[in-house]
Amino acid sequence: MSTVTTNGITLDLDDIQAGALYERPSPYVGVYLLLRIRDRADGRDLVRRLHRLANPAGSADTPDNTSITVAFTYHGLKALGVPQESLDSFVPEFREGMAARAAILGDTGESSPEHWEEPLGSSDVHVAVVVLSSDAAQLREAAEKARQAHAQLPGIDLIWRQDCYQLATGRTSFGFKDGIGQPSVEGTGRPSMNPRQQPLKAGEIILGYPDETGELPPMPTPDVLGRNGTYVVFRKLHTKVAAYRSYLRAKAADRADEDLLGAKMVGRWQSGAPLALAPETDDPELGADPRRNNDFTFADDPRGFKCPVGSHARRANPRDALDEDGSVDVRLHRMIRRGTSYGPILPDDVTEDDGADRGIIFVFAGAHLKRQFEFVKTQWLNDGIFIGAPLESDPLVGARQDPGSFTIAQRPIRRRLQDMPPFVITRGGEYCFAPSLSALRWLAELDT
Ligand code: HEM
Repeated sequence: MSTVTTNGITLDLDDIQAGALYERPSPYVGVYLLLRIRDRADGRDLVRRLHRLANPAGSADTPDNTSITVAFTYHGLKALGVPQESLDSFVPEFREGMAARAAILGDTGESSPEHWEEPLGSSDVHVAVVVLSSDAAQLREAAEKARQAHAQLPGIDLIWRQDCYQLATGRTSFGFKDGIGQPSVEGTGRPSMNPRQQPLKAGEIILGYPDETGELPPMPTPDVLGRNGTYVVFRKLHTKVAAYRSYLRAKAADRADEDLLGAKMVGRWQSGAPLALAPETDDPELGADPRRNNDFTFADDPRGFKCPVGSHARRANPRDALDEDGSVDVRLHRMIRRGTSYGPILPDDVTEDDGADRGIIFVFAGAHLKRQFEFVKTQWLNDGIFIGAPLESDPLVGARQDPGSFTIAQRPIRRRLQDMPPFVITRGGEYCFAPSLSALRWLAELDT
């Protein structure tokens, strides 16, 4: 059995799906598949086959290279015949699904479910399978295994497929390196990316272990179904790259100012260098150095002269910036993110929209849908009350129907960007549950 013990926490790594817990290789290519179960027996057969393909976090050959992760929606668990008592034991957000929570999440107007890509957000989405690999040939091989798992079963339909990738630079469609700020988790044996932050308690991410409050997070029953599982959110987010570039061009004095305004919106330069450490100019070496590019807090910059308090990364993880307030424990709102690019990158300097669909498949993994993903999205990204700017939302990804504004602290007078349109549109998504390996077995053997 493969386990790592940290601070007395021993995670059952042989039972936890690797995809939920471990960093993805970089670069990589991948594919997201959504399946519908029309026939219960075929559904269980599918789970039996997927169980053989899913990778445990602890296996000796845990593919940092190739992995298959399996997750289910509420409707998927229902289609498999999970007893109602068990279904009722999942948290309400999961049972309702993402589309039903759209108004809360700010998915309105262009982002509202009525405009979502079919079948996202519908009760047809049952099973999500994610296949990733650092190698295109290995991806094809693994994707073929996943295809065989469902294609031979007449009661299973493939209803959606999305190719995705991560560039070697780690940059996504707006040009910024992503995936830098991540919490480390006790018991995973993976070192902290931020040397100033203790790893999170395992129960923040994996069900069945104490979380930061010292309690066990609410866990679906029976134990075999809930333990070692985690909730997974995926969202297809279209990025309006041309509109973003045109906006910066219109507001900036020159090209250097464009880069600066972009960095102020994100909290990092495109290279990944944090404004907290490189406030004046980009420092690509810093951006590329995993030992330094997370080694900062905001304590010395309470008003945001270096890194605006309303910038995306500072909103999404205020680190110690809210400590004085004392009412918010930032560690209760951390999340594991596994963002992936989709669609072609818009060539540098193009400011005309080419009509292509491009953006990010945003993925969150954690034990608390509400106080992690939903809290960050609604309280910190879509709102500005917590930073004393109630009329502002996140400049890069915040939901806004009407053009918004973004304040950049500077001396002698602050700079305010007005008439900022939304740059990110939700194309759809789902709340899923990625069960443990033993739960997959349990689901395959249900006899209700
Ligand atoms: C298209 C949409 C998005 C884009 C382009 C985007 C881009 C970025 C970039 C460039 C960074 C800085 C690099 C890093 O620290 O990893 C970042 C950080 C982050 N983003 Fe996003 N993001 C998007 C959506 C979201 C959403 C919807 C959430 C949460 C609900 C989120 C949460 C975070 C968090 C938690 C961090 C890390 C902050 C830190 O630890 O310092 N992002 N994002």
